[in-house]
Amino acid sequence: MFGRGCIGFVGWRGLVGSVFIKQSQVAANINNESTKYLFLSSTYRRLVKFLIGVYNVKKTNDVKALLKCKAIVSMQGSDYTDITLSNLRNLNWTGYWIDAASSLRRQLNVCVVLDPVNSRTIKSSIESGKKSFVGGNCTVSLMLMVLHRLIRRSNMKWMFVTTFQSVSGAGSNYVKGLLLQMAFLSRARFRDVLNSSIQVRIGDPSVSESVVGSIVPWIDEETNKLGTSKEEQKGFIETNRILGLPMIPNVGGVCIRVGVLRCHSQSFLIKVEKSMCFGCAADIIQSTSRWVKLLPNIKAYSRQLLTPEHIAGSLVVAIGRLKKLPFNSGLLSMFTVGDQLLWGAVEPIKRTLKLFCNMVSN
Ligand SMILES: NC(=O)c1ccc[n+]([C@@H]2O[C@H](COP(=O)([O-])OP(=O)(O)OC[C@H]3O[C@@H](n4cnc5c(N)ncnc54)[C@H](OP(=O)(O)O)[C@@H]3O)[C@@H](O)[C@H]2O)c1
Repeated sequence: MFGRGCIGFVGWRGLVGSVFIKQSQVAANINNESTKYLFLSSTYRRLVKFLIGVYNVKKTNDVKALLKCKAIVSMQGSDYTDITLSNLRNLNWTGYWIDAASSLRRQLNVCVVLDPVNSRTIKSSIESGKKSFVGGNCTVSLMLMVLHRLIRRSNMKWMFVTTFQSVSGAGSNYVKGLLLQMAFLSRARFRDVLNSSIQVRIGDPSVSESVVGSIVPWIDEETNKLGTSKEEQKGFIETNRILGLPMIPNVGGVCIRVGVLRCHSQSFLIKVEKSMCFGCAADIIQSTSRWVKLLPNIKAYSRQLLTPEHIAGSLVVAIGRLKKLPFNSGLLSMFTVGDQLLWGAVEPIKRTLKLFCNMVSN
């Protein structure tokens, strides 16, 4: 069925989309001689090369073209999803919608995908006729890649996380802003920088905040819940949703934007059962999956291998600085680094698309 169908890609020019296209070309797991591909963009009008073909680009609002797709992968953003998906469903479109944006994640008829953690839920959702699938929030997905087994086996009581999120997590224009700020700073006089008399702010309206030489301790919109940002709220909602656990607010934190180009880092404080021994926790983490790399809590490993610079572009999610805190039994602290464009965005949706291709063509 899928072999003869068409797969549409929206948002393929963006950060998530361009990594998705690159990873799909390398993995070559969605191609079939008779599968057609449709590329859409609101601005780009040139030809696109993909696998062995060359494609014209249609407009993102070309409903006639979208209706012909058996599956649409949208990496364009929530506004696009909100308008387009309901339009298509109103026109009785029954294809699969696979999304990187957040807007669908709270809907009950949508499956939040992270197959190393919830592959059974994904398969049963496909079998039961669900048609919309969405990747989780990037920090939640990266956290669960490393900690889902520990959360379950330690009977985790609560978790507090501080995130250090790279600028590429906020899209292409934010990255452009960081590069402009870096360029501005590199032209500044060393004496001015030392005297802090310099403001690393640029006139680009798309980036209103300085992330070079500074941090921004608020990501996404405000909510009316106890000073929690929307990004922080996703922490407990999506964690429990992906794990299939009751919606108890047991994950709290502070989400911070930092001037790193790629990869999100996170520092965790986790309350586990008092009886859990330190070695058992380490074994559970290490055996979670082949993508988890537990590093010894020593200086050289932490400084060289537990960094965005080392992890960028890799499917490995590194975890280190694992400590049992002496003042309270059952408290563990740790630090992780993962590429948010891979496990935090592209991998879950790419693997879900592959699953459709396999399931529906078998
Ligand atoms: N970035 C992440 O790490 C990440 C992680 C998880 C989820 N997400 C979600 O995934 C969605 C897409 O995120 P994104 O980071 O890929 O956004 P993005 O880089 O801003 O790209 C989104 C779209 O913006 C347009 N665009 C505007 N200026 C552009 C430029 N200079 N270069 C390339 N494209 C540009 C393109 O659409 P046209 O072709 O129509 O012009 C592109 O498809 C969002 O909903 C986001 O929340 C992102």
